[in-house]
Amino acid sequence: MKRYWMIILGAAVVALYAFYPAAPILHSPEQVIADTLLAQVDRFANNGLLNAVSNNASEKQLQQLFLQTQLAYKRFEWAAEYFDPAAATLINSAPVPEASPVYENGPGVYRTIQPQGLQVIETILFPHYDTRRKAELITLLSQLQAASQRYKRHFTTVPVLGGQVFDAAKLEVYRILILGLTDFDTPLTQQSLTESAVSLQGLKSALSAYSQSEDILLLLDSAAINLKHKNFNQFDRAYFITHYGNPLSRRISRLRQHLNIPLIRYPRLLQQDAETLFDPYAFNADAYAETPSTPAQVALGKRLFADPLLSGDGTRSCASCHQPDKAFTDGLVKNTALGTHQLLLRNTPTLINAALQPAFFYDLRAASLEDQIRDVLSDTLEMNSSVRVAPQDTSWVVAALAAYIRSLVKLNSRFDSYMQGSKQALTKQEVNGFNLFMGKARCGTCHYMPLFSGVFPPAYFRMDAEVVGVPKSVNGTEVDDDLGRGAITNTPFLMHAFKTTTVRNAARTAPYMHNGIFTTLEQVIDFYDKGAGTGLVNQTLSTDSLHLTSPEKAELIAFLKSLNSK
Ligand code: HEC
Ligand code: HEC
Repeated sequence: MKRYWMIILGAAVVALYAFYPAAPILHSPEQVIADTLLAQVDRFANNGLLNAVSNNASEKQLQQLFLQTQLAYKRFEWAAEYFDPAAATLINSAPVPEASPVYENGPGVYRTIQPQGLQVIETILFPHYDTRRKAELITLLSQLQAASQRYKRHFTTVPVLGGQVFDAAKLEVYRILILGLTDFDTPLTQQSLTESAVSLQGLKSALSAYSQSEDILLLLDSAAINLKHKNFNQFDRAYFITHYGNPLSRRISRLRQHLNIPLIRYPRLLQQDAETLFDPYAFNADAYAETPSTPAQVALGKRLFADPLLSGDGTRSCASCHQPDKAFTDGLVKNTALGTHQLLLRNTPTLINAALQPAFFYDLRAASLEDQIRDVLSDTLEMNSSVRVAPQDTSWVVAALAAYIRSLVKLNSRFDSYMQGSKQALTKQEVNGFNLFMGKARCGTCHYMPLFSGVFPPAYFRMDAEVVGVPKSVNGTEVDDDLGRGAITNTPFLMHAFKTTTVRNAARTAPYMHNGIFTTLEQVIDFYDKGAGTGLVNQTLSTDSLHLTSPEKAELIAFLKSLNSK
């Protein structure tokens, strides 16, 4: 009986379609998404801010319009960042110039990103409109229009693919968790949590094009509600990530599988098939390898690493400075040059998770692990093995050492277990410390979760160097002489810029910073708390004190200790 009803109903639907005068054309979900994106780009481009500036509207009106413009961008940020990242840079790049090595079409490509877009506009309009910068403001707003045109052309001419939508949607969830929960984009207006809520609504409008996405849409709604109108300093990020963020990226992965939409694959540090940022195999250490490593190479590399024969005078191995029981550091402020008492230029960094970087050394001068190793082997101060091995082919040595260092990827701390679902893996104090790290203490705006280094997420092909103004002595009033990245690139704004090193295993890698000046984590936290190198140098972080209380400092340190690898 039921079946007859179905047939009759079906026939009725067909009849309706056939005789309905202007039967709507059925669009694919991706076509619907492209149309939605076009409308969203239009709303962003026609926000009225440019007109208002030209007509000398009041500061309050301009600020209001600016906040709306920022939110209008957030609605299609997931697609803007994915389909045309260069145009996204025009809309949303840092308010200071950046020249970070990027891994694009192979290692060693350097690109300077000029300050432009919303973040610079923010500095003109907040906290007060700087009318002297009106002409600059108009130019910047015109650039936003140009970027919008690029997006419109893209979404009208290039078909959007289902696999791309799901890849981009998951990356947007990661972007929100890593950057959106900090005040990375909006240091002055501090509306990052509200913005993240709007980004989630943008994802909702895209994913609603797919049938069977109801449970994701509900989750997106409740996640957005959880973010809105929250106090930035008090927001519980750990709760948000485990209750909303991780379930969201997981469900997005599963819906793609369920719909049989193929996975988009290209070499990437953050694996496409990871369902959350914290999956044990989310990061692929071989992504930047000249050739993928084999177990035999790893075993050989491990032996060579500890073999003094590799050094010019046979007295020193890699392990003399990178000691496995000290998280591959040496506990010294600076080690000495081969065969002398002369100090090396810099503190020995950890090698745990070092492979997860697109550039190496404190000044980022080596663009691949292989280059980095060639450099160390021939460095007269460190190994000087060029004397011994110069006439021979050393590529097998380099490949083996690189394979060994890639085997030292260990994202298996208690913090990782917590994020994978073991609630008891962290104490309340440690969770508070994590929330401070991502919020009030602003550490997460440079040490990006979950690698907690300067590899820029979620694409992970750029490595950031920052000027924090590390002093010559612990409470010193003079910046350390080392020019860092500035000496390599000879660019004024990069003088005293250093790679943002990972803080994973920091509890085991004292002393700290490129010059090993701080002996304890307490000293490091005090340094940041008083505004880092304020007054010593033109730094890239806020000069304000963080106003951390002593219990808060203890919480931060407890969290850092939870990042030790097993
Ligand atoms: C004399 C001490 C010493 C020896 C020996 C030594 N290193 Fe290092 N290593 C350092 C120092 C110091 C740095 C940081 C230098 C800089 O950033 O300018 C470094 C940096 C590195 C880095 C880059 C880490 C990063 O995150 O950027 C890698 C990888 C590395 N060393 C591997 C090796 C290997 C492999 C060997 C043996 C062939 C070796 N090192 C031998 C002291 C040493
Ligand atoms: C503006 C970006 C920025 C911010 C914000 C920031 N850091 Fe750093 N951090 C860096 C850079 C760059 C270095 C390397 C500096 C150097 O070696 O001279 C670094 C180094 C460190 C180190 C030393 C790691 C080592 O092995 O030597 C620790 C620990 C650290 N930061 C913790 C923190 C904490 C905790 C916070 C928040 C209170 C924080 N950072 C905020 C950029 C930043």
